[in-house]
Amino acid sequence: MPLRMEGIDSEDACGPQGDSASPSTGTQLAGLADSEVSEAVFQRKEHCARALSPEERAKLKGDQCLVSDFKQQKLEKEAQRNWDLFYKRNSTNFFKDRHWTTREFEELQACREFEAQKLILLEAGCGVGNCIFPLLEEDLNIFVYACDFSPRAVEFVKQNPLYNAERCEAFQCDLTKDELSKNIPLESVNAATLIFVLSAIHPDRMRLALENIYRVLKPGGTVLFRDYGLHDHAMLRFKSGSKLGENFYVRQDGTRSFFFSKEFLEDLFTAVGYETLVNEYVLRETVNKREGLCVPRVFLQGKFKKPL
Ligand SMILES: C[S@@+](CC[C@H](N)C(=O)[O-])C[C@H]1O[C@@H](n2cnc3c(N)ncnc32)[C@H](O)[C@@H]1O
Repeated sequence: MPLRMEGIDSEDACGPQGDSASPSTGTQLAGLADSEVSEAVFQRKEHCARALSPEERAKLKGDQCLVSDFKQQKLEKEAQRNWDLFYKRNSTNFFKDRHWTTREFEELQACREFEAQKLILLEAGCGVGNCIFPLLEEDLNIFVYACDFSPRAVEFVKQNPLYNAERCEAFQCDLTKDELSKNIPLESVNAATLIFVLSAIHPDRMRLALENIYRVLKPGGTVLFRDYGLHDHAMLRFKSGSKLGENFYVRQDGTRSFFFSKEFLEDLFTAVGYETLVNEYVLRETVNKREGLCVPRVFLQGKFKKPL
C-alpha cells in the first residue's frame, strides 16, 4: 500500500487503482493512502479565485518570511535531484492515472481530419506516465513523446509493460534548458499536456518551458494544462519557513510548488504567443472520512492553442 508523503499534495496522489476521489487532505493524514481517507463531495468550475476565510487570510498575510537566497539557489540547482529522489522513494505508486486528460483527448481524437490520421502527443513532465498509458491503451493510432526531468521517472515509463518503442518515445529533459526539438521534429505535435508540472518550475523559468513546447507544436496544436490553483488547501497548510516567493513554496523533500491564478497563467501563455481557449478554476470539496474534515481543493485547468 503506497503511503502519502507529507507535503506533496497533488489532487491525484495515488489510490492503488487510480481511485478517482483521492485528494490529499492534510498533514494529520501523512502516512495514509488517500483513497482510504478522503472522498470528493462536489466539484464546480469557477472564474474567480476561492475566497479566503478571515483566518486563512490572516495566515497567508502573516507568512511573509522568505527562504534565504542561498537556500533558494540550492533548491534550483538540486531540483532535478530532488525529483529523482522523490521517484526513488515512491516508485510508480504516488500519482494515479489521469482521467481528465483522457476525456480531453477524446475531444481531440474526434477532431481528426481523416479517420486514419495518426495523432502525435507530448506528455511534458510525464512522471511515470500516468497520462500516456491510459491513452495508448484506448487509441491505437497515436504516437506519444514523453519526457521528464527525472531519469528514474523516465526509466519507470520505459519499464511499463505498455511501453512500446513503436508507439512511444520517452526521454530525459529539462523543459527549461534542453531543446525538445532534439527528440521531436519541429511543429509536429498535435497536443501536449502539462499536468502538475509547471508548478514545480521556478516562476521565472516557466516561460522557457512554454516556448520550448511551442516550437514543437503544430500550428493549431493545443496545450492541456492542469495544476494547483490559488488558495488551494495545500497552499494554506505550508508551515512558515516554506515560502519562496509570491504563491511559491518548498516542500520538506525540496520539491517546489507554485499556486496559479488565472491571470498569471493567461499572461504566461499569451506572452509566448498562445491563444487561450479555456482557463478556469476547478473547485472541489473533499471529505476526510476518518476525521470528518472538509477541505477545499482548487485546481486551475486550461487549454491553450498555437495559432494557425
Ligand atoms: C507533480 S509531478 C507530475 C507528473 C505527471 N505529470 C503526472 O501528472 O503524474 C511533476 C513532474 O514534473 C517534473 N519536472 C519538474 N521540473 C521539470 C523540468 N524543468 N523539466 C521537465 N520535467 C520537470 C518532475 O520530475 C515530476 O515528474
